[in-house]
Amino acid sequence: MVSNNQLFHLFSFLCFFQITCLHAQLCTQEQTSALLQFKQQFSFNNDAAYGNCDSVGIHSYPKMESWKEGSDCCSWDGVECDNNTSQVIGLDLSCSWLNGTIHPNSTIFSCFPHLQRLNLAFNDFGMSRISSECSRFTRLTHLNLSASNFSGKVPIEVSFLSKLVSLDLSYNDGLRLEEPGFELLVQNLTKVRELNLYDVNISSVVSNSLLNLTSLTLLDLTACELFGKFPDGIFHLPHLNVLSIHDNLALTGYFPELINSSSPLQYLGLSYTNFSGKLPDSIGNLKSLKTLGADFCNFYGSIPTSLGNLTEMTYLFIGYNYFTGMLPSSLSNLGNLVSLAVEFNDFEGKIADFLPNVKSLLYLSVDSNSFSGPFPSLGANLTKLVELGLSNNQLRGPLPSQIIGLPNLALLSLANNLINGTIPSWVFSLPAVKYFNLSNNKLTGHVKDFKSTNLIIVDLSNNNLHGRFPSSTFKLMKLSSLILSSNNFSGELDMLCHAISLKILVLSSNGFNGSIPQCLGNFSIYFSVLDLRKNNFSGTIPDTFVKENSFKTINLDSNGFEGPVPKSLENCKMLQVLDLGHNKFSDKFPYWLENLTSLQVLILRSNKFHGPVPNSKFKFPFPNLRVMDLSTNYFTGPLPRNFFKNLNAMMNVDEASFELKYLGMPSGRSPYYYSDCLTIVIKGSTMEMVKVLTIFIAIDLSKNNFEGEIPQIIGKLNSIQGLNLSHNSLTGHIPASLGNLTMLEWLDLSSNKLTGEIPQQLRNLKFLEVLNLSRNQLIGSIPQGKQFDTFLNDSYIDNLALCGPPLLNACHPRTSQPPPLMFQQEDNTSSGFNWEVILPGYICGLVWGLVMGYFMFSRGKPQWLVRIIEGERNKSGKRFKRYSHRNRAR
Ligand SMILES: *[C@@H]1O[C@H](CO)[C@@H](O)[C@H](O)[C@H]1NC(C)=O
Ligand SMILES: *[C@@H]1O[C@H](CO)[C@@H](O)[C@H](O)[C@H]1NC(C)=O
Ligand SMILES: *[C@@H]1O[C@H](CO)[C@@H](O)[C@H](O)[C@H]1NC(C)=O
Ligand SMILES: *[C@@H]1O[C@H](CO)[C@@H](O)[C@H](O)[C@H]1NC(C)=O
Ligand SMILES: *[C@@H]1O[C@H](CO)[C@@H](O)[C@H](O)[C@H]1NC(C)=O
Ligand SMILES: *[C@@H]1O[C@H](CO)[C@@H](O)[C@H](O)[C@H]1NC(C)=O
Ligand SMILES: *[C@@H]1O[C@H](CO)[C@@H](O)[C@H](O)[C@H]1NC(C)=O
Ligand SMILES: *[C@@H]1O[C@H](CO)[C@@H](O)[C@H](O)[C@H]1NC(C)=O
Ligand SMILES: *[C@@H]1O[C@H](CO)[C@@H](O)[C@H](O)[C@H]1NC(C)=O
Repeated sequence: MVSNNQLFHLFSFLCFFQITCLHAQLCTQEQTSALLQFKQQFSFNNDAAYGNCDSVGIHSYPKMESWKEGSDCCSWDGVECDNNTSQVIGLDLSCSWLNGTIHPNSTIFSCFPHLQRLNLAFNDFGMSRISSECSRFTRLTHLNLSASNFSGKVPIEVSFLSKLVSLDLSYNDGLRLEEPGFELLVQNLTKVRELNLYDVNISSVVSNSLLNLTSLTLLDLTACELFGKFPDGIFHLPHLNVLSIHDNLALTGYFPELINSSSPLQYLGLSYTNFSGKLPDSIGNLKSLKTLGADFCNFYGSIPTSLGNLTEMTYLFIGYNYFTGMLPSSLSNLGNLVSLAVEFNDFEGKIADFLPNVKSLLYLSVDSNSFSGPFPSLGANLTKLVELGLSNNQLRGPLPSQIIGLPNLALLSLANNLINGTIPSWVFSLPAVKYFNLSNNKLTGHVKDFKSTNLIIVDLSNNNLHGRFPSSTFKLMKLSSLILSSNNFSGELDMLCHAISLKILVLSSNGFNGSIPQCLGNFSIYFSVLDLRKNNFSGTIPDTFVKENSFKTINLDSNGFEGPVPKSLENCKMLQVLDLGHNKFSDKFPYWLENLTSLQVLILRSNKFHGPVPNSKFKFPFPNLRVMDLSTNYFTGPLPRNFFKNLNAMMNVDEASFELKYLGMPSGRSPYYYSDCLTIVIKGSTMEMVKVLTIFIAIDLSKNNFEGEIPQIIGKLNSIQGLNLSHNSLTGHIPASLGNLTMLEWLDLSSNKLTGEIPQQLRNLKFLEVLNLSRNQLIGSIPQGKQFDTFLNDSYIDNLALCGPPLLNACHPRTSQPPPLMFQQEDNTSSGFNWEVILPGYICGLVWGLVMGYFMFSRGKPQWLVRIIEGERNKSGKRFKRYSHRNRAR
């Protein structure tokens, strides 16, 4: 038995022993105060993680808060000491809420010469430079400054750290490693195993010296602005697990032959590079490969069957290339496949022949290829499927009447196929669907109530669906976009006001009727697009538009609306398009719209508007208006001279500065966008414009009772492409200033009472294609040469005394010379706007182009890549610009 006394002694002995141990560990006073001084440079703030710690699985908390004077710094959170010497050898302050800057004179550099590991990742160092003092860490093996808001030039001294095994400078916004830094770094860091320079601007070719880094296991050179040819040899580095060179658009290269390779490569990321060529058969040797990201490159040829040998494969992204042929059925061997994305290629063959029927599959995107055959009978194995994208192919025939499961399907896109027959019940019963796109098919029959309360987007446009559209859809609380255009739906909008999340409602070209509910304009502050064109709606527009609303497009064209234009529209400060054309609106000119600074398109065509267009009450009326169509109304009085003076968006437009922008384009982050659709009269013929180019500029005041002269000042609107003042009672001469409208493509002044001669200055209109001066009282000789040689008789008929070609009656010899021309025409190829090039291929309504890639990226990629994408998105929307660029190019 042991006595209490003995126990006490034993206990004190243990205590003593422990204290001596601790004593041996005590870090020096110098180190303690240096660390405390370092701590003082920061404040601690939960938001200070410059990246997302959760997304990389690191718990985020203010480690330094436990650092207190009087305790052993070796026991502090994040501090690691050498057991024998008590020197601080490791500092891990990742995800520690640090906010502040690090000065070159910081104690961190001077007091810790023994440091081997320094991790400052995921903090906010307020664009600090990486100090050249870092060269004092001569024993450093691990340096991690990832995602912590460092900026500026990476000092050359980093390459003196020749013991480095791991260097991570990724996810800093604006680090530069310019020549010769990259070369030096790679030459000197001969021991490096992990080199992550994601988003460090290197702007150089890839150094061959990398081939000497035979220990490399991870090489991430994503978004480094690399160019030139990527050295093949890097694929053969014996230990390389992760090779990521995404997003170097000017980097060329080929997928290497990997004969006899036993490469341990697990992650290969080549997306957004200029890699080209075929995928070789020997790809089947990359037995460890789990992720292949090779989308947005220039690969072509067919997919080797050996791809089916890569049974570890989890994420396969080969979309947006030029691949052809059939997809090998061997893909069904990929029993671990989670994502298969082959969209935007030229694959063909029956879809059912390759569809990998594997249980693990979550994301399947084959959009925009030439797949054919009927909609596949999805195997019972696809129970986990979350996204199914089959759009833009040639799938035919009806949908299967029954299907087993798909309990998790959140995105179903079958748009732009040739699917016919009625929509079977299972489609409406999908329990989890959020994004639902059956647009542009040949579907018939009725639409039933949707079962999924998670619906966010429903697009059924361009089918032959009919009957009442189920009003219950409006009760779906998350519904954001409902696109039903070009069907034969009928019914009223009685439940509209329940759709409190609604942003986009496009019902155009259907048989909807009834009036617009009173709540319009105040039930959803998000509501931004209301497109009711070509229906049978009637009644007045409720005057209920609240302040701070989000309306961008209100298109009521071709209905039976009547009454006045609601005054509260003046609250729609974001309104870009207002089309009230072809209705029975009866009102004076709605002058208060002049104060809508975003308004670009105003169409009042074919209504019962009346009275004069009064002088503007605003200093700058319609500052952004590009299309003004008041045609076919009962406006009287003089032309709105005041507008001509002030329509700034129609003057001095720098055509080159327009990178083909369209109204309704996304503002950056949205994965889909609405593209406006308008009926516009161009060159005398009515046409449906699918997207309105913001560069399209025209004025149509025809078919009213405007009187008086055409003011000279109209010559200020030198960017307009179309001007129609025909069918009014205009008098006086044609102003010579019209010759300043050098972008004009059509000019119609017919059926007025214009007198005098045709000004010779009109010869300056080098893009003029349509000219109509008929039915006036013009006299004198028709200008000759240039565009005027292309017009025929009917441009001039029914005038008082016009003469010269193309008319038969010759003029009396002139004495005066025509005035000098402003332009010498260089050649005959008109560089004017070419509509044919622009119009086809653009869809009206909701454009889903970005959706698949977007959702795929945000959820289908391995965690650390999601970080890449998220970071990219948060930063600048750069990626989306590239997406849309590529979409357009195809
Ligand atoms: C970091 O500190 C600066 C200056 O003290 C402050 O303006 C900034 O908001 C802080 N940042 C975060 C993320 O807390
Ligand atoms: C120091 O000692 C602890 C506990 O004995 C051990 O876990 C740790 O690995 C040692 N550290 C070093 C750097 O040797
Ligand atoms: C380091 O430099 C900064 C500014 O240059 C100064 O405010 C700070 O007091 C200096 N700190 C030390 C420890 O010298
Ligand atoms: C390599 O590092 C050593 C110090 O370790 C340094 O003296 C040398 O200049 C470095 N070489 C290059 C090319 O950076
Ligand atoms: C690789 O290392 C060897 C020996 O150190 C050297 O001679 C050679 O120049 C290096 N190659 C490159 C491409 O830097
Ligand atoms: C792929 O697997 C098949 C059969 O398992 C085999 O015959 C073929 O050689 C393999 N191809 C490659 C490139 O590994
Ligand atoms: C489901 O997968 C199993 C094995 O992965 C396979 O044997 C079976 O044929 C698949 N079922 C269907 C309906 O394809
Ligand atoms: C659907 O299209 C197929 C041809 O693709 C045709 O044979 C069939 O009759 C059509 N069915 C219906 C209901 O229109
Ligand atoms: C014109 O709009 C501005 C804000 O966009 C507003 O402050 C101003 O009061 C408006 N003017 C009139 C006369 O309504």
